[in-house]
Amino acid sequence: MTKPASAPVRHYLQFSDLSADDYAHLFTRAAEIKRKFKTYEKYHPLADRTLAMIFEKASTRTRVSFEAGMYQLGGSVVHLTTGDSQLGRAEPIEDSARVISRMTDIVMIRTYGQDKIERFASHSRVPVINGLTNEFHPCQILADIFTFIEHRGSIKGKVVAWVGDGNNMANTWLQAAELLGFTVHLSTPSGYEVDQAVAGLQGNACYKVFADPLEACRDADLVTTDVWTSMGYEAENDVRKQAFADWCVDEAMMQVARPEALFMHCLPAHRGEEVSAEVIDGPQSVVWDEAENRLHVQKALMEFLLLGRVNA
Ligand code: CP
Ligand code: NVA
Repeated sequence: MTKPASAPVRHYLQFSDLSADDYAHLFTRAAEIKRKFKTYEKYHPLADRTLAMIFEKASTRTRVSFEAGMYQLGGSVVHLTTGDSQLGRAEPIEDSARVISRMTDIVMIRTYGQDKIERFASHSRVPVINGLTNEFHPCQILADIFTFIEHRGSIKGKVVAWVGDGNNMANTWLQAAELLGFTVHLSTPSGYEVDQAVAGLQGNACYKVFADPLEACRDADLVTTDVWTSMGYEAENDVRKQAFADWCVDEAMMQVARPEALFMHCLPAHRGEEVSAEVIDGPQSVVWDEAENRLHVQKALMEFLLLGRVNA
């Protein structure tokens, strides 16, 4: 079998790159792939395929889940960082994309601006996956929604409270809400609001804004937050600590949510800042399932991007 040089390529650069129907397929596949993993059932549909992982920012979960996931699917992995490749010595991103995509079958990138991953993708012969940019973190929301479904069933019509920064995670939750039919209750400190244009939304029907984070959590089915200072914004840390002081998800916020509400956090977390230890380590928290599910959903995603709708 020869590798086609110009087969149609699907990328996963933001949540809206797939349809609601694609997501229904992915969630079914993720459950089946998880079942195989838990029972040590060999499943090597990506034998002889290679994943290139490019990290321009730090990672634990994304690195381990993509690397372990690709090996578990029978493939192999190449790991690049800015510091140990020509990416850090100003080789144009377009040239890097042309070269890396001739040698590998799929690429995952964690970088700064969304424009950078888009430029890479537009010069890549193979699918490109967003492993986090300043604007989006679609693989995380894929895992989060899969985790919600596992615990509570469909997310359609539900309320997700977002407490904290109007960042990459918030933007991606909003895209998911618009596509999958749920509502986000957004509460961010003044000056850290979501920018609807950056989030790439069609309209504002999928979210409501709350000045008071407690009110955002009222009757929510899921309460979620993230670090006050994302990677790349470390210089703002001291200012942010002051601005975000009232945006710590605590037991009072969980108490006004629905009794069966879940708590999620993409991790890494700072107990005592964006979430209290009682909440993240408490009975409503599903953060460890959420982290584990990165593995299963991304295996389903790689299978989908490389092989289409498999039913094995
Ligand atoms: N949640 C997440 O993406 O974690 P890492 O930064 O460790 O990859
Ligand atoms: N918003 C965080 C998520 C980390 C997984 C960041 O971008 O650093």
